[in-house]
Amino acid sequence: MNILVAEDDKVSRIILEKFLSSAGHDVVTVDNGRKALELYGALEFHMVVSDWMMPEMDGIELCKNLKRMSLENGEECYFIMVTAKNHNSDILEALEAGADDFLSKPVTKQILLERVDVGKNMLVNTAEAANPREPTNLLVAEHDIMRLPLHFLSIVCSGNGEEDIQPFAQCVHDLGSFLVKCHIPKEEAYMNRFLDRILSAQGEWLMTVSASSFSRMSEDHERIIETLPMLETAISSFISSRKNRFERERDLVRELNMEKDDAGVDSKLDHIKEVVEDMQRSRDHAIARLREITEEYVRLMEQHMEAEEELFLPFARKYMAEEDNAEIISIFRDLEDEKLRKRLQELGSWTHIPLERRICTHNQKRWVAASSQALI
Ligand SMILES: [Fe+2]
Ligand SMILES: [Fe+2]
Repeated sequence: MNILVAEDDKVSRIILEKFLSSAGHDVVTVDNGRKALELYGALEFHMVVSDWMMPEMDGIELCKNLKRMSLENGEECYFIMVTAKNHNSDILEALEAGADDFLSKPVTKQILLERVDVGKNMLVNTAEAANPREPTNLLVAEHDIMRLPLHFLSIVCSGNGEEDIQPFAQCVHDLGSFLVKCHIPKEEAYMNRFLDRILSAQGEWLMTVSASSFSRMSEDHERIIETLPMLETAISSFISSRKNRFERERDLVRELNMEKDDAGVDSKLDHIKEVVEDMQRSRDHAIARLREITEEYVRLMEQHMEAEEELFLPFARKYMAEEDNAEIISIFRDLEDEKLRKRLQELGSWTHIPLERRICTHNQKRWVAASSQALI
């Protein structure tokens, strides 16, 4: 890689150059931020390793300028701040200026090269971010697939309970087996590999922090799996309450038609009224329970998927090497499950649901577009 080093202290500058050159990088050094900025505009660099305190232009100003410049040019510029400052507020200030990584002096050769490798992975992965076979993109595409049955279920539950939800019962079942057999094992494999990588790249402390957020996600996975049978039970109770009602109503009408005298009809009607009210109560109970559990499940899934997409996956992608991605993708291939996709295609024929009702709560505009693509 072409690396630009900005460091005003001569000894530190020579050491940084030596470390980086020994790993085969092409290194250019300058002794202040202004020169670094001029050179960055004139030549092509993949990465900048910069000191914080320098004459003429410090590392923070340099970082802000470089990030602005690379944004305008549509290029990626990975910036590592190397400094004797090491308070949390310093790290925060550097990150706010746009720095991608932060190293405290004195820097060892091993740590520097490890972090440069992380940056290299990041640059490669950013270039691959548009690749649909990249593991995090595959996971997000699966989220979009899973959002579809949840979304349809929310729509049905927000109605008056008259809709036939039979087609969803099997779909929710398939969603569950897709989660348990495919999606969650892939994520856990991905997360475990990420923890290995972060341990070697950043050491114990960041691995521990990552492991704690990872265990929160695993707890989410457990809750998602545990709640699923409750959702299935609520769906089947609702379906049977609806079916019982239709059958009972048909029987009552038949009995009424057989009644000949007026007094018999009157008493039959009173009886029918009671039975209908009773059936209404049990149906109301079933739909209320279904609504409650559906809302809980959709909320749980949405929050979890959003946290993965916004927080975890972009961060983890930074630490994954090319060979990790290749290995994870091969696991993905083994666990490919077409069942849910097929079921969703069947559900796609539910065109009678008006479009404005398809776009409702839960950050769904984005995935409505994605899932309609998935159905094609
Ligand atoms: Fe997950
Ligand atoms: Fe997920």
